[in-house]
Amino acid sequence: MDDIAADIPAADAARTVRDALLSRRSVRAFLSTQVPQSLIGELLSLAARAPSGGNIQPWKVHVVFGRAKTELEKDLLATAADKNGGGRPEYDYYPRQWWEPYASRRSEIGLALYGTLGIGKRDVAARRAQHMRNFAFFGAPAGLFFCVERALTAGSWLDVGMFLQSFMLAAREAGLHTCPQAAFTSHHEVVRRHLAIPDGDILLCGMALGYEDTTRPENALRSPRAPLDQFVRFHGD
Ligand SMILES: Cc1cc2nc3c(=O)[nH]c(=O)nc-3n(C[C@H](O)[C@H](O)[C@H](O)COP(=O)(O)O)c2cc1C
Repeated sequence: MDDIAADIPAADAARTVRDALLSRRSVRAFLSTQVPQSLIGELLSLAARAPSGGNIQPWKVHVVFGRAKTELEKDLLATAADKNGGGRPEYDYYPRQWWEPYASRRSEIGLALYGTLGIGKRDVAARRAQHMRNFAFFGAPAGLFFCVERALTAGSWLDVGMFLQSFMLAAREAGLHTCPQAAFTSHHEVVRRHLAIPDGDILLCGMALGYEDTTRPENALRSPRAPLDQFVRFHGD
């Protein structure tokens, strides 16, 4: 665990930006406690204060809960379980081949996550079952999908990234937790069909939103970060 994050109680609402930054993490088991639609709306309004080049505000968001979410999950789980069903992402979130330091960082967090659940390195079935939990939003009562118009360019993707983090930090202040989920991109056709997302919009990622189930072992995961000297160079006197 990062020393800096050690003193933030998991379930506490963040009161400062620092608290929010340090207590935001990907939670992968939620309570069924509902999140009021008005609160989600408020968090989205706060997130929309994120900057964007030319103030074009390129983010588009779909929120699912209740029956719409149940129906979507049913279809997603069936599609993802169908080995012949394929599921091709609309864009490459990751490169096809890895190199250092990214390869090690990625396998380290994967091993750590499965470790919390007691899933062994070679237990393909258990790993797959855990992956499938993505499509039920890890039990969260609300799910979000973030889109951007296909014709927009890389700058707009940066803008949506800022929106996403702003949303996740605002959620912390409300005592909520999140898990951003690129897993949905493999089955974007299903999401698209359920939510009437036009072809002109690309599904960037989904997100689970809810209250953390603090009793679940996977939520004990604390992801490490590289030290400053591995990603910063200060230039100057
Ligand atoms: C855009 C994006 C997509 C992600 N997609 C998934 C996902 O599909 N499933 C998942 O369990 N975690 C997903 N994650 C969570 C990352 O694994 C996580 O952010 C990383 O390991 C660092 O951990 P932390 O968020 O707890 O700090 C995603 C994160 C981001 C930013």
